[in-house]
Order: sequence, then C-alpha cells, then structure tokens
Amino acid sequence: MTELPQIIQLPRVVDKRGNLSFLQHCTPIPFEIKRTYWIYDVPGGATRGGHAFREQQEFIIALSGSFDIILDNGEKETRYSLNRSYFGLFVPKLYWRRVENFSTNSLALFVSDRKFNASDYVRDFEEFQQLKSVLR
Ligand code: TYD
Repeated sequence: MTELPQIIQLPRVVDKRGNLSFLQHCTPIPFEIKRTYWIYDVPGGATRGGHAFREQQEFIIALSGSFDIILDNGEKETRYSLNRSYFGLFVPKLYWRRVENFSTNSLALFVSDRKFNASDYVRDFEEFQQLKSVLR
C-alpha cells in the first residue's frame, strides 16, 4: 500500500468527440472503492475539510474546474492544485486536509475506501498532532 500522498494520472481515451477517463477496482488508485461523494455549488472563498481521518484513504479528482488541497503531515503543509479531470490526489490516512480556492462551478469528486463513519474523523488539530507524534 502507498503511504505517501501522490498525484496519480488516470487513463485517457482521447477522442475527437470528447475525451474519456476512468478508474476502477484498485486501478490506478491503491485501494478498493467503497464510497464516492462530491462537493459542488461551493461559494467563492469557502474552505472545506479541516480534519483528518483515522483510517480512511481517499482519492480526489477535480472533475470540473479547479481547487487546492492542502495536506498537513503534522510537521509541514503541502499544497496540491487540481485542475484536470485526468489527475487525482491520493490521500493516505492521518493527513490533516483542507480544500480551498474552488473555481466557479468546480466539481470535486472524492473516492473513499470505506463507508461514512463519523467516528473516523479527527476534527481537533491537537489530537491529530498527538496521533501523528506517537507514529514517529
Ligand atoms: P465533511 O466530511 O465534514 O465535509 P468536508 O470535509 O468537505 O467539509 O461532511 C459534511 C457533513 O456531511 C457532515 O455532517 C457529515 C456528512 N457526510 C455524510 O453524511 N456522508 C458522507 O459520505 C460525507 C462525506 C459527509
């Protein structure tokens, strides 16, 4: 299993009629898909996220428009800009993440390796830092 965040390129079937990309069971994302959700109609200047997951891994795609994902590993932040529907960001468990700088009419697709579970969320940044520090 991949443990570090990474941008993964999806297959592209280029066609004069319009291009097509896809993902499927474990390819090219490094987990089995259990859930997808999407964020849309984001007002200008809004920030989503602001939490980590204890176990959940995700793959995030800008299906339309663009936005930034900021990942914090407990020591430093890294900003990833997504603006093409054939690239996605793999986010391993236990990364504090926020999503911001949404363009007008952007559509963010989140693919997850598990069903929704509110108790998987870490919403307190100090608790997140403690969880990371015991792993070091
Ligand atoms: P949340 O994950 O906190 O949104 P974001 O990280 O983008 O700011 O989810 C917002 C609300 O939606 C929260 O009350 C939980 C609910 N929710 C579900 O019911 N099912 C889901 O699959 C997701 C992702 C969220």
